[in-house]
Amino acid sequence: MDNIRIVGGRRLEGVVPISGAKNAALPILCASLLAEGEHRFRNVPELQDIKTLCELLNHLDQEAVFENGEVRVLGRPVSDPTAPYELVKKMRASVLVLGPLVARYGRAVVSLPGGCAIGARPIDQHLKGLELMGAEIELAHGYVRVEVPRGRLQAAEIVFDIPTVTGTENLMCAAALAEGRTTLVNAAREPEVEELARVLNKMGANVFGAGTDVIVIDGVESLHPVDHAIMPDRIEAGTYMVAAAMTAGNVLVEGVQLEHLEALSAKLRAAGVDVEREGSGVRIVREGPLRAVDVTTAPHPGFPTDMQAQFMVLMCFAEGQSRITETIFENRFMHVPELNRMGAQIDVHGRTATVTGVRALQGANVMATDLRASASLIIAGLVADGETEVRRVYHLDRGYEHIERKLAGLGARIERIRGKL
Ligand code: EPU
Repeated sequence: MDNIRIVGGRRLEGVVPISGAKNAALPILCASLLAEGEHRFRNVPELQDIKTLCELLNHLDQEAVFENGEVRVLGRPVSDPTAPYELVKKMRASVLVLGPLVARYGRAVVSLPGGCAIGARPIDQHLKGLELMGAEIELAHGYVRVEVPRGRLQAAEIVFDIPTVTGTENLMCAAALAEGRTTLVNAAREPEVEELARVLNKMGANVFGAGTDVIVIDGVESLHPVDHAIMPDRIEAGTYMVAAAMTAGNVLVEGVQLEHLEALSAKLRAAGVDVEREGSGVRIVREGPLRAVDVTTAPHPGFPTDMQAQFMVLMCFAEGQSRITETIFENRFMHVPELNRMGAQIDVHGRTATVTGVRALQGANVMATDLRASASLIIAGLVADGETEVRRVYHLDRGYEHIERKLAGLGARIERIRGKL
């Protein structure tokens, strides 16, 4: 298992390129199951989660090859539409094969993803939608077994109890091949949902309204393969924006769509950071002190839960006290004890963390617990006095392409230590 060692104190300067979005690539790769033939996906980030998904597609009789930032999928008929536990347990997003498989084959068996470090994360909304579309659902032995007695899903009006990103994506894929017009109400508005809709439409689907909370899908009988370049990763971009601000740096984050990051940009500005669009990127400059600001996570276009841990580190250095409230996942403060070991002053009461700014953090050995928590510890290490070693970085490798190379390119003293326990 690799560790990452950082020696704090360097100001970040220069240009950092942003990779393709993990959370867009995953549903899009799953959507390839909707059509036979040769699909080509470009600008795919080299991440463990993408490799796991290619493994799952290959298990489902597809030929998925991941090379040089491209995934080529030769779509073929699936003989047994089953996503086994061994693959789903590696990555929750595997559940995104459910919608496409049921839409295409009228049946699927998918291991229940179960909880994970950040929360219970049920999939009841995905299943409720499929049921309304005429599927019968059975939960047994840790698997969900879905069967459509009529063979083809029927359109329905589905009202989500809460907006769910992968739930919206699964049902959008399911509805693309269903009979009639499906309406998804209280749908997730995340840019990755919009990106999936763009891809489905390129494949011949009729999806309208993605990016708003009502999505209408007119089902078609069949879809064709697609060639698509994945949009940039707004969370990776946001992470470098915070890292630049943290070190009082001057960084051009290249290839980011600022309109996807409005909530973060507004909070950075309120904290005293300059955020300016520059060409196809965004320049982050901080010269003055950081001010404390309060943040509450919310579904898009609110402040993203996937940026909460990183923003909290920034607030550790701000003047005053900041309140950070997590409303999406019930257990997403696992970075707090590790940050406190580095000298931060954070108190958690229920869903709110109160962060009192400190003058300095101290380098320490810390443990990464999930993807975004890992990123926050790396950012803390960039400004901490002395050396920080972040352990269990496999979490990081699931979501950040070449993070140590990119940070080193901005002047950070950072290295990967291979194979340490
Ligand atoms: N929820 C339910 N029932 C459902 C589905 C969701 O109660 O059927 C709840 C969840 O437990 C959670 C809330 O609804 O409290 C929102 O969860 P959502 O379903 O939107 O999350 P997700 O689709 O499982 C995606 C991202 C996450 C990101 C969240 C929120 C992918 C592959 N994953 O997860 O990304 O945090 O949306 O924006 O798109 C990450 O990249 O680090 C990550 C965790």
